[in-house]
Amino acid sequence: MGKCYPNVSEEYRKAAEKCKRKLRGFIAEKHCAPLILRLAFHSAGTYDVETKTGGPFGTIRHPAELAHGANNGIEIGVGLLEPIKEQFPILSYADFYQLAGVVSVEVTGGPEIPFHLGRPDKTETPPEGRLPDGRKGAEHLREVFGRMGLNDKDIVVLSGGHTLGRAHRERSGVEGPWTTNPLIFDNFYFKELLDGEDEGLIQLSSDKALLPDPVFRPLVEKYAADEDAFFADYAESHLKLSELGCFEC
Ligand code: HEM
Repeated sequence: MGKCYPNVSEEYRKAAEKCKRKLRGFIAEKHCAPLILRLAFHSAGTYDVETKTGGPFGTIRHPAELAHGANNGIEIGVGLLEPIKEQFPILSYADFYQLAGVVSVEVTGGPEIPFHLGRPDKTETPPEGRLPDGRKGAEHLREVFGRMGLNDKDIVVLSGGHTLGRAHRERSGVEGPWTTNPLIFDNFYFKELLDGEDEGLIQLSSDKALLPDPVFRPLVEKYAADEDAFFADYAESHLKLSELGCFEC
């Protein structure tokens, strides 16, 4: 389906540009790119393509949604970003969180992701249970990402987001990073995945589920071997993720 991008005002566009610069400095300084990328994913990843509910519409900051089990720790990201958001009252939270997500990838050395403005804020929070569960496997991933309107390639390439950051015992029950350089966006997630479990590094069941699957595995191998291919496909899928339910014609 094609997208119809709205025309935002000059004032809005300028605020977004300035906000992007502030976010670059802030996210780099605070080393919070991983948490903010996770926030952007959890904001968008509740979308349901059938009912057109959920999605990247700024609702994640509301206590009802922050209370979802999968969002443990996200409140810290929401709180960190709030002083920046306050400087740009004209921007929707919906645009702001997705902008912060693409900046997080960019400032850690990842690909540039095209960005369009004009997401509205909504008030209704999605029901709990729409985000993926790290204890589950391929069938679950296809069910959850399929509900968002995303495909097998999107699942594998976006799982590469785990090249950033770590799991925290008090948030998810798991502790540790996926790679040895969790503040750099590169293709090491895929290299480590193929290497098997290493001392000090983690792999969730949902990560390991990419290995035996006949569609997922060749993509894991491709991204491990070719970082340019990973970056190109990642930018495409992240763009899709950031616009779920948005800009429909
Ligand atoms: C494929 C299904 C996915 C599952 C089951 C999953 C699950 C998880 C879990 C359990 C954590 C640990 C949270 C914590 O303890 O702090 C985590 C962290 C993270 N996730 Fe995912 N995730 C998935 C996909 C994604 C995607 C698509 C992205 C972004 C493109 C992403 C980005 C991140 C990041 C950056 C972190 C690290 C956060 C930090 O360091 O604070 N994840 N994920």
